[in-house]
Amino acid sequence: MTRPAGSSKGSPAPEGERTYLLGGNWKANGTLASVRALIAEFNAAGPIPANAEVVIGAPFIHIPECLSTLRSDIEIAAQNCSLTGMGAYTGETCASQLRDMGVTWVILGHSERREGFGMAGEDSELVAKKTKLAIDEGLKVMFCIGEKKEERENGTTMDVCASQMKPLADILSKEDWAKVSIAYEPVWAIGTGLTATPEMAQDTHSSIRQWVSDNVGADVAAAVRIQYGGSMNGANAAGLLAMADIDGGLIGGSSLKMDFFTCINSVP
Ligand code: PGA
Repeated sequence: MTRPAGSSKGSPAPEGERTYLLGGNWKANGTLASVRALIAEFNAAGPIPANAEVVIGAPFIHIPECLSTLRSDIEIAAQNCSLTGMGAYTGETCASQLRDMGVTWVILGHSERREGFGMAGEDSELVAKKTKLAIDEGLKVMFCIGEKKEERENGTTMDVCASQMKPLADILSKEDWAKVSIAYEPVWAIGTGLTATPEMAQDTHSSIRQWVSDNVGADVAAAVRIQYGGSMNGANAAGLLAMADIDGGLIGGSSLKMDFFTCINSVP
């Protein structure tokens, strides 16, 4: 099936500027019926701004529906992939299978996966290895980092973010970084309605960019996109996206409704 064309975009983003990246993270939400209804609403929404790139992170089982019926100017992400290639790995889905289907992005290292829902979670070494494998298989990666409430309160936010990025900086080549977007998601802001203020988020985004500059290179730091995630919605997106180092969002709850398009249309 051919995907419906999105409404045509306007002029391309000026050269040298980072295109905004708006990711929707549907998590383990939705039935086939609700996904179809949401896709119909998204397909009928107006044009996506020329300086915005939009990706939906769908549950594995809903990826085929998205790939065949969601407007073609929205790319599709998986919310995880395995640390393995194809083979005898029951219950896993690997990057090359995702790529083969037409998936172009994967969200890796989300705090919910790092925490492990009471099971063994994913540590930063593992997330870095998955990221490298996914890139080698042709996927782009939203690489999630972020501190917990007590870490913000005791002033270790950047230590935490740095420790989550270090294994990635060790494993990726400079060219690989063109395939990475960093999603800064303070854990205390995810699904809680407690958004970081634009100033607070900007402060951390700028420190993250500085860290990338110091540990990877100034050119990579200038080009890499840093998305904010954590209770972003149509009411607060414009304030966050107006900040110099906030290059998009990773949006959970609000991506399950038309509010997602309010976020998309909030890009400056
Ligand atoms: P939220 O989720 O927007 O519902 O806070 C964001 C995320 O977990 O990526």
